[in-house]
Amino acid sequence: MKKAEAVLQTIRERRTIKPKEFLQETISDEVMAEILESANWAPNHGKTEPWRLTVFTGESGIKKYTDIIEKVFAETPDHLKKPEKLAKWTGNAPFASHIIAFGVKRTENCALPKVEEVCAVSCAAQNMMLVATAHGVASYWSSGIAHMPTSAAAFGLDGEEDQMLGFLHLGLVHKGLEVGTRKSDVETKVTWVK
Ligand SMILES: Cc1cc2nc3c(=O)[nH]c(=O)nc-3n(C[C@H](O)[C@H](O)[C@H](O)COP(=O)(O)O)c2cc1C
Repeated sequence: MKKAEAVLQTIRERRTIKPKEFLQETISDEVMAEILESANWAPNHGKTEPWRLTVFTGESGIKKYTDIIEKVFAETPDHLKKPEKLAKWTGNAPFASHIIAFGVKRTENCALPKVEEVCAVSCAAQNMMLVATAHGVASYWSSGIAHMPTSAAAFGLDGEEDQMLGFLHLGLVHKGLEVGTRKSDVETKVTWVK
């Protein structure tokens, strides 16, 4: 298969798979190293490399993750949260082999608009999901508590403009990754100017 075809196939095959479908098996260190390495090659404006990743694994690592989200949830004012969500997030966590909490570290005195750093970290997340897919590892991007006021600090991002973007739940699955759907072809979202 040609390189471009293989990349497009991996992009198409990437699917969000809910943690409850994960096997209770651990992703190897070698595969995790490749997934993490891919994050570091995301495009970024001004060479700021703003992605910061915290990897939780093993029973005690995942417990530390749920402890953090429970604490952040408790610190969040009622009008910014739906009480039923916490149980969903803490319920998903133990099914994951690894959870990568990922966020934006703003460079000090950086003139770039923050949205550009958010874009770069999102690219890092997509890189990780694609390498995971290529290894047959399922992924699930949960926003969870990402946008709650004390979330970034809870994951060690203590700058005023630092921000969490999500929690990538990774796991092995039995079946092949499902075929995805899109509401419409890309042509309906493209304008050509010739
Ligand atoms: C920024 C972002 C945040 C997301 N947050 C959640 C989430 O909190 N919960 C969830 O179930 N899925 C979340 N997802 C995954 C989407 O639900 C999923 O990508 C979408 O259903 C399309 O399915 P696909 O990933 O298989 O193409 C998120 C995806 C992105 C890009």
